[in-house]
Amino acid sequence: MSTFRWCATPGGRVAPCTDCAVEFSRCIGLLQRCFSCRFSTTFLGSPSAHRALAGRANLAARRHIPPRQVCLYATKAEQAFEDFKEMKKDYDAMLKSPHPRNAKRVGNQVWFDVSLTLPLGLALDTSWDKEAVGVSQITEGGSAFEHNERILGKDPDEQKMWIQPGDRLLMLNGQKVKTQEDVVGIVSKLQQGDKVILKLARQARGPIQVIFPEPAEPVVVRPSAKLQDAARAAGHNVIYRCEDGLCGSCWHVSEKTGDIYQLCIESVTASELPSKAQAGFSEQIGGVVQALSGNNEWEPGTSWDNTEPLRLRPCPEIYEKFMNPHMGKWQYSAGKYSVTRDDDDNLIYVENNISGLLVEEDDDDPMNRWLTADLGENGQIRIRLSKSLGISIDMESQYKPAGSDEWGEIRTAFKY
Ligand code: FES
Repeated sequence: MSTFRWCATPGGRVAPCTDCAVEFSRCIGLLQRCFSCRFSTTFLGSPSAHRALAGRANLAARRHIPPRQVCLYATKAEQAFEDFKEMKKDYDAMLKSPHPRNAKRVGNQVWFDVSLTLPLGLALDTSWDKEAVGVSQITEGGSAFEHNERILGKDPDEQKMWIQPGDRLLMLNGQKVKTQEDVVGIVSKLQQGDKVILKLARQARGPIQVIFPEPAEPVVVRPSAKLQDAARAAGHNVIYRCEDGLCGSCWHVSEKTGDIYQLCIESVTASELPSKAQAGFSEQIGGVVQALSGNNEWEPGTSWDNTEPLRLRPCPEIYEKFMNPHMGKWQYSAGKYSVTRDDDDNLIYVENNISGLLVEEDDDDPMNRWLTADLGENGQIRIRLSKSLGISIDMESQYKPAGSDEWGEIRTAFKY
């Protein structure tokens, strides 16, 4: 969310919020409500919200002042409002999955039970108000660590929650715990190897577990953490080869969403889907057009949900597809063909065991770039990406029989 603060312009003053009566500094052209009331869930979407925004515009119009001059931060306020609405949409989507990994959503938290044996291998903290026991570390050798390894392993067959720093311990063997002493009191009566049931809570918009390929270790990072930092902390070696985000050496794909994360881009964080990022096209190509196809329907929570780890792996095959969109298997109304590469990296057209080297025809227009293959006694074939899309999924082709000077009609093929 954008940084926001109310302005204290010469025309501004301190006034009580009409909802909660807390005094706040506001510009006379802005709303009568303080920041938290204005962005509260009940206020959002209410007719008063719309009236208030419209009122500000009217006030500005009556004074013949463009809205931006009424309040220096008006645009940022609106941006914050938009961001909040977007976040609420994500959150509502997340609520549609009330039982992620057999856990339960309770307000903005997820509650879940984990069955472990002693020793647990958990480092705990007590909050200053002694109202919560927080998990601060999971140490190797304990049953919590083994549990995580099993759940977060390569092929997790158990859809259960794992434990991570930032989780809060609510109950131990059915008894409420609020301090480390409460925990010690219960555990000290048990033997090594005894079973304990932990009830834990996780802030739904809290830290995220990021998993890079082995030998890197899983890391838990704050939602706004840069993924390049997460990779470094995990011990995952990313090779950065360019400065324009297009060499592909740092691209990683999320197995869950299919989005491409370009790690060399500073704004790529753990909590934001690249396909939804605010960054401009040149900075970030929308998750590389959601890994070229956009066929992954990510639910719940369209940006992030820390009930699922963010599992990322390098994706050379997607880079190849992006840079060489001709490659692949194609289907048209009367048959199929494929475009592959030979050992020398040349593009080859193959149809019904007949193949030919694809050579680029001279044409300055990049949208009219035909690649032609000589198929010997079977004539010639030429292909080009359709003009309809920037990153096309259609291919047009024309066939010229041997001995003819005329290209046949254009037929369209789809990748399959
Ligand atoms: S370093 Fe080249 S795309 Fe990131």
